[in-house]
Amino acid sequence: MTDAELFRISVEAAKNAYAPYSNFHVGAALLAKDGRVFTGCNIENSSFGATICAERTAMSKAISEGCREFVSIAISGNGGTSWPCGICRQFMFEFADDLRIISGENENELKVYDIKELLLEGFRL
Ligand code: THU
Repeated sequence: MTDAELFRISVEAAKNAYAPYSNFHVGAALLAKDGRVFTGCNIENSSFGATICAERTAMSKAISEGCREFVSIAISGNGGTSWPCGICRQFMFEFADDLRIISGENENELKVYDIKELLLEGFRL
């Protein structure tokens, strides 16, 4: 699975986004160590704080299926760049402190960061 392929899957996943308030359709494609790919989209709510981001949707799907080891996550917003919010960075760090995070304007212009670059000194209890 290449980064470009994973990004393409994230763009596809964003088609299921429920984002009537922001109109920002986010998709995530999370590659697990066993090769499975879990997708997610953002799901907004009339009570804005109840909104869930695409990254947490994808990782929650994986965790709830018993999968806890991950390699990479690709994220897109309205087909282009979208980096994870602070809550998602901390959420993902819990399970994957070496996660690769991929995003960009399109599949040929992707940037990749390590989660530790995007979340310095992530919290551990
Ligand atoms: N959003 C995500 O899905 N992931 C992020 O990491 C940042 C924000 C969503 C939440 C909301 O539905 C929309 O983008 C605008 O904030």
